[in-house]
Amino acid sequence: MIKIATFLCVFARTALAHGYVSGIVTNGVYTEGWQVGFWYDIVNGVTIPQTPGWYEEELDLGFIPPDEYQNPNIICHKNAVNANVSATVAAGGTVEFQWTTWPHNIGPVLTYVANCGGNCKSVDKTTLKFVKIDESGINFTTQTWASAVLIANNNSWTTTVPKSLAPGHYVFRHEIIACHGATTLDGAQNYPFCLNIDVTGSGTENPTGTLAVDLYHETDPGIYFDPYVTMTSYDIPGPTLWTG
Ligand SMILES: *[C@@H]1O[C@H](CO)[C@@H](O)[C@H](O)[C@H]1NC(C)=O
Ligand SMILES: *[C@@H]1O[C@H](CO)[C@@H](O)[C@H](O)[C@H]1NC(C)=O
Ligand SMILES: *[C@@H]1O[C@H](CO)[C@@H](O)[C@H](O)[C@H]1NC(C)=O
Repeated sequence: MIKIATFLCVFARTALAHGYVSGIVTNGVYTEGWQVGFWYDIVNGVTIPQTPGWYEEELDLGFIPPDEYQNPNIICHKNAVNANVSATVAAGGTVEFQWTTWPHNIGPVLTYVANCGGNCKSVDKTTLKFVKIDESGINFTTQTWASAVLIANNNSWTTTVPKSLAPGHYVFRHEIIACHGATTLDGAQNYPFCLNIDVTGSGTENPTGTLAVDLYHETDPGIYFDPYVTMTSYDIPGPTLWTG
């Protein structure tokens, strides 16, 4: 069993070089997130550290395809399970999401928050309503996609938490939608990752969110389109951006 697990692990890390969010920096403090390798530790009976990153089973570092947008796996990736601890950020502060690596330079980058309405370690993930607080598509002048900016920025992305967001226990959902195959129906690839982050401050706004299974549909104009032309417009997928 150990040999099989080791083999799979090596395969996952070398054959398919997609990344995942392995850690965050909130207001200058680094916090480790869920590591894909933890799955093998669990299988081998090794105790894993508790981190704010949600458990998920994307062992081949793969994606959620558009024909699974209405499946709960779109919430926080494949078979995701709540993290038991939370990081902390002040409203108005920043969260830097660190990807292990990222190979695809076509596609938007998005960040959502969902108020757990209580403890994020026990909330039913299918009830979480996500508010989009950060989105980036393509710079029409340079034709540079957000995912290329992420790569150039050491495979990281920094989101500012709106200052007026009410304090509370939140799930942050950070996502790259790789669109290099978007010319084909169901050719886009979603890579969502979730972390529990408590928001502090004196904000008073509780914006209404959207269930993750209602965020996207396979024929959305920003999901099913030809990216291999000079882009003069782009509909960033998902609900309206809320910046407070
Ligand atoms: C949180 O704790 C529960 C119960 O011990 C466990 O099943 C779950 O895997 C933990 N979550 C993570 C992300 O480790
Ligand atoms: C697009 O890129 C150009 C050149 O780097 C920059 O001046 C401009 O501000 C960018 N546009 C947006 C909307 O970010
Ligand atoms: C790049 O990101 C990694 C974590 O993914 C970090 O360890 C490293 O210090 C970063 N390098 C720079 C130059 O910021």
